[in-house]
Amino acid sequence: MSKYSEITPELLELANLCKRNSAIDPELYAKYDVKRGLRDISGKGVLTGLTEICEILSYTIVDNDYVPCEGKLYYRGVDVEEIIDGFMKEDRFGFEEVTYLLMFGELPSKKQLEDFNALIERYRELPPSFVRDIIMKAPSKDMMNTLARSVLTLYSYDDQADNITIENVMRQSMQLIALFPLLSVYGYQAYTHYYFGNSLVIHPPKPGLSTAESILYMLRPDMKYSQLEAKILDIALVLHAEHGGGNNSTFTTHVVTSSGTDTYSAIAASLGSLKGPKHGGANIKVMQMFEDMKTNIKDWTDEEEVSSYLSDLLNKKAFDKSGLIYGMGHAVYSISDPRANVLKQYVKSLSEEKGLLKEFGLYEMVERLAPEIIAKERKMYKGVSANVDFYSGFVYHMLGLPAELYTPIFAIARISGWCAHRLEELINAGKIIRPAYKCVAKHRPYQTLNDREESTN
Ligand SMILES: CC(C)(COP(=O)(O)OP(=O)(O)OC[C@H]1O[C@@H](n2cnc3c(N)ncnc32)[C@H](O)[C@@H]1OP(=O)(O)O)[C@@H](O)C(=O)NCCC(=O)NCCS
Repeated sequence: MSKYSEITPELLELANLCKRNSAIDPELYAKYDVKRGLRDISGKGVLTGLTEICEILSYTIVDNDYVPCEGKLYYRGVDVEEIIDGFMKEDRFGFEEVTYLLMFGELPSKKQLEDFNALIERYRELPPSFVRDIIMKAPSKDMMNTLARSVLTLYSYDDQADNITIENVMRQSMQLIALFPLLSVYGYQAYTHYYFGNSLVIHPPKPGLSTAESILYMLRPDMKYSQLEAKILDIALVLHAEHGGGNNSTFTTHVVTSSGTDTYSAIAASLGSLKGPKHGGANIKVMQMFEDMKTNIKDWTDEEEVSSYLSDLLNKKAFDKSGLIYGMGHAVYSISDPRANVLKQYVKSLSEEKGLLKEFGLYEMVERLAPEIIAKERKMYKGVSANVDFYSGFVYHMLGLPAELYTPIFAIARISGWCAHRLEELINAGKIIRPAYKCVAKHRPYQTLNDREESTN
């Protein structure tokens, strides 16, 4: 540990003082009817805005009661499962089409899609020397931090950086959408080179490739990938592109945008949110949790042994001792997350192809057992089921993608949603977002230094 990260006894003492004076009596939250997590007790979010970009269905109303239902996801009113079926049947990639739909509100015609792809391709070029001067300097072990730093630095290369007219923000948005694959993959290449001495691979993007193909092309030293691999990655990008205005990182986009700040600052803030293990960072945790499970469970087909490991997870005795079973549960969905269901169909065929059916069996068993075990050990207001991260980590693992890139891949997809929401926030120019916090501290007089008692611990 370096001297900068050491926790000295002095810091420990200050941390204890902070904890003592910052802990709020949990009963006060009920007393003042605080909507913790901006949700009510049934898990329904507090209404803070209107959007036309995306709809998530997780319950229906029957006789004025909320009844949980199978999850559904609509992009601009179109069912995402229909979108995927549609472009898969036409043997096309879908992420660019979905980005167009999210940002502009309509499905593109053939010509509009071609023009949009050409525009993205034109913007898929970093400023001169950006790789050498920014990405190669002080590489970080966390690609999300690298990505956020690159985004903030792009501000300096944009002479219209603070201009928040719709035209300019749209230009910045498309540039960021085009550049995220480069920033993520090159950040990773710099990291493996400087941290592990691996050969430095910087492939310039190849014209004519989709976003999914570009990621695989730039990442792999031999630039090769199969169509099946690119198609599955494309589906993962489509499923991660957007999830309503209330998810943590998109709400961050709204909050930060509402202050009138620039695009680079708003997107860097959203990246910080997405990195969190309760949000986009969960897919790495899922993989790590399964690696731990595979070494600690002798018989992967033994329900009792798997159940006991899952209980240990909840009781903070296994894996990272956080008390969480990663990849399970969602703030909104209860019975099912449609994104997990779609991914699961492809996971099965991919695991067959890669000879990983035994692992797939373990995933299926955890998916089946975990909801019952969580319901037994936690106070539930609604059901839990596998979320999108449960299978996405496994997909990326089978595609041979490095774990460090799992969350950046989420960001490469979600930047489309963030940009659509930033534009929607600006177009409907509302008030600065500013909810209420009730102060529960008592007023007290200021004491002069001489009057204060020395702390005894
Ligand atoms: C996503 C998540 C933060 C939603 O939490 P939430 O909004 O509190 O969800 P619920 O209201 O359904 O949870 C009810 C209770 O079950 C707990 N719970 C839900 N999912 C859980 C999980 N996977 N592991 C352990 N406990 C879980 C919650 O912490 C809560 O208990 P608490 O009131 O004591 O805090 C939560 O499910 C989670 O941490 N999951 C694991 C991380 C993950 O996969 N995130 C990716 C989301 S796409």
